[in-house]
Amino acid sequence: MATPRKILITSALPYANGSIHLGHLVEYIQTDIWSRFQKMRGHECYYVCADDAHGTPIMLRARAEGIEPEALIDRVWQEHTEDFAGFAIGFDNYHSTHSEENRVCATTIYERNRDAGHIARRTISQAYDPEAKMFLPDRFIKGTCPKCGAEDQYGDNCEVCGATYSPTELKNPVSAVSGATPIEKDSEHLFFKLGDFEKILKDWHKAGHVQAEVANKLNEWFEAGLNDWDISRDAPYFGFEIPDAEGKYFYVWLDAPIGYMASFRNFCDKTGVDFDAYWNADSTAELYHFIGKDIIYFHALFWPAMLHGAGFRKPSGVYAHGFLTVDGAKMSKSRGTFIKARTYLKHLNPEYLRYYFAAKLSSKVDDLDLNLEDFAARVNADLVGKVVNIASRCAGFIKKRFDGKLNGTLDQPELYNTFTKAGDEIADLYEKREFGRAIREIMALADLANQYIDEKAPWVIAKEEGRDAELHAVCSLGINLFRVLLGYLKPVLPQMAEQAEAFLNVEPMNWHSQAEPLLNHAIDKFKPLMTRVEKDKIAAMIEDSKEDLAAEAKTTAAKPSTDSQLAKDPIAETIEFADFAKVDLRIVRIAKAEHVEGADKLLRLTLDLGGETRNVFAGIKSAYKPEDLEGKLTVMVANLAPRKMKFGVSEGMVLAAGPGGKDLFVLHPDDGAQPGMKVK
Ligand code: 2FM
Ligand code: ZN
Repeated sequence: MATPRKILITSALPYANGSIHLGHLVEYIQTDIWSRFQKMRGHECYYVCADDAHGTPIMLRARAEGIEPEALIDRVWQEHTEDFAGFAIGFDNYHSTHSEENRVCATTIYERNRDAGHIARRTISQAYDPEAKMFLPDRFIKGTCPKCGAEDQYGDNCEVCGATYSPTELKNPVSAVSGATPIEKDSEHLFFKLGDFEKILKDWHKAGHVQAEVANKLNEWFEAGLNDWDISRDAPYFGFEIPDAEGKYFYVWLDAPIGYMASFRNFCDKTGVDFDAYWNADSTAELYHFIGKDIIYFHALFWPAMLHGAGFRKPSGVYAHGFLTVDGAKMSKSRGTFIKARTYLKHLNPEYLRYYFAAKLSSKVDDLDLNLEDFAARVNADLVGKVVNIASRCAGFIKKRFDGKLNGTLDQPELYNTFTKAGDEIADLYEKREFGRAIREIMALADLANQYIDEKAPWVIAKEEGRDAELHAVCSLGINLFRVLLGYLKPVLPQMAEQAEAFLNVEPMNWHSQAEPLLNHAIDKFKPLMTRVEKDKIAAMIEDSKEDLAAEAKTTAAKPSTDSQLAKDPIAETIEFADFAKVDLRIVRIAKAEHVEGADKLLRLTLDLGGETRNVFAGIKSAYKPEDLEGKLTVMVANLAPRKMKFGVSEGMVLAAGPGGKDLFVLHPDDGAQPGMKVK
């Protein structure tokens, strides 16, 4: 075997304020397959990752939950770790950017760049929330789109017309934190002078460290010019304070990639692996980052430049992948296709997904579609129908008729050789991250094995007198072919491979250990290695994902409460008076109330606001007959944006209180109040 390589591999660090979902898993599964493959080849390979724990959204999320950011990130770290383990993502280390190692690494990288003249300081003016006393990231400013007039749009782009703009262009901007109108405020910021590294970066890209599509994109960015990068944020901010800039913190994206290095440092400190051998400027080790296509700028420009400026080595490869769609569309919470790792694991075997993603992954940046029908069909046909089938058709005879022992010679050595020789081509495809092509090669071999078994029909031979030797030979070759296939599939299906190793009674397989067949070897009892994907389990997972959304809406709003009654339906997070003042409550007369065909809970109300009428759907059918409501007064939220519901558009909302069922009260006393009056 060639000299072992030293390889360090990373996946992008997930934010510590959200759950891992199937979109994330494209990357972790892709990286894990590659890492397991490199380890099977005998290389010294480490795969590290961490939670990305800093930044404004995490700080605000913790505030909303009424906890310290440290408590939030600890809890999420635990959840992430369990989710990854559930999908057999075999990190060698999983750390956090909020760690001492990261503080040290970030400080070193910053100070070395500063001392080399790559950091500038200048004062800039930014949106500031005078009530919350904080500068506002673009995503925390909302207002009316300057292009199409849609309300409630984020400060950087409009979700209705797709326009992008700067927050200063928004009409009627408000802070999403307090509801206050932002003001402009000056503050000194620190900048990383990316332009200093233009030549270094161009040379690095030309040397083939990024995919061709990425190189094209980078050329566009070079043509547009490399701007200084703002690496500081003012307090309050959850992150590391900049050593020589009091009250200023490293921007989350400064210390996020440094988290790769910090996680590895933490690993080296625990294991004695030589950190410098992987990170020094003259390192001969290889360093690869697997990332999504949305964060190329950070990884292919800022990160190598920062590393170079601080005297460290640059990455050997930055490999971007596309996004996940489900059934051809963006993952959708309302359709139940925004599937969390945890929800998937409640219903389905993780190796189904590992296999399906592998079968569709290439080295390109293309998006990947999880077509749920195709997912079931493919896993069932390939893994259950082809691969497991080989063993299940042969193992029983070996156990029953030959005392669990394989034959002493191979029936068709040339067939076995075809299998082992294919290993070079398959390894080459894995190495190039052409997993889909590798899987096709492996399945072509599985077809050959099945053809052989079909032709020999051991179930027929078994019934005939005097053909025991033949039966033994056929089933022994079948088991040997199965073993080679499982070796090739092991990076993708580590759990199934482990079960197969137990059944075959062999040591953990590596890439080369199947070169010689198992002869005169005792195998164990065969247990089914994988069951078919069941469609009703997929349907249940989709349903469960819809429920997740409801649960999430509650937990994001939930405040801890010790009161048992409140705990069932927690009080939502505190809102500022400015938020409340935005709600326009009006007395209205219920002009008409009707049943809605097909709706269990809803009544359609026609509401009279004193001149204007509104159509509103209200979930009060359990408490009122339509005829009891007509002519009565109620209170409505009159300025709620119209919502398209299954049965039509609802143009507001009536207020109701009560535990539900019959006890749901919506009526206002008819005390002289007039429709259209404001509720004080
Ligand atoms: O986009 C994201 O989800 C970031 N948390 C990725 C960080 S990757 C690396 F730079 F740390
Ligand atoms: Zn717009």
